[in-house]
Amino acid sequence: MPKEISISHLVKSEDLNHHGTLFAGRMAEWLVEGCFIAASKLVGRPEDVVCVQIHGMTFHRSATKGDIVELRTKVACLGSKSITVWGRVLVNEDPDPAVTGMATFVTVDGQGKPYAHGLSLSEEYIQQNKEIHELAMRMKNRN
Ligand SMILES: CC(C)(COP(=O)(O)OP(=O)(O)OC[C@H]1O[C@@H](n2cnc3c(N)ncnc32)[C@H](O)[C@@H]1OP(=O)(O)O)[C@@H](O)C(=O)NCCC(=O)NCCS
Repeated sequence: MPKEISISHLVKSEDLNHHGTLFAGRMAEWLVEGCFIAASKLVGRPEDVVCVQIHGMTFHRSATKGDIVELRTKVACLGSKSITVWGRVLVNEDPDPAVTGMATFVTVDGQGKPYAHGLSLSEEYIQQNKEIHELAMRMKNRN
């Protein structure tokens, strides 16, 4: 079961804001797209996956032109029809993430009706990823 993916982007002129740093809107697009790909790979049917909520995105540091930003995802929690994916973004391989964020997806059929995906996380995986699992559960319970 693939639970992690990594996608890299080169920050170019068109990705910058008026301060000359990576535009939050571009980063949000890359984060949600990466989390969507992670959820889709898990389900195996990208056409069945829709985003229901972007829980947040925090910029801990900025990135600038010429930087290589790498999004690494982890499945944070699975409900019966939902998949919550957490992402962290490393800049130029600095292990301290510059950006973190999370999004929840739902599996839907051809009519857009949610269905149970039948996936689960092992107790071992949950223990190994306790912090993001608990964060995802807290976010989910807010709805
Ligand atoms: C996503 C959608 C199908 C959910 O419909 P719904 O009637 O709320 O679905 P359900 O009540 O059956 O809930 C399904 C799951 O979504 C979760 N969910 C529903 N609303 C949520 C929210 N606002 N935030 C987080 N999770 C949510 C539920 O908790 C449930 O999770 P579980 O299986 O872990 O218990 C519906 O809201 C929708 O079609 N939204 C538009 C999606 C879209 O266009 N996205 C952008 C393009 S990808």
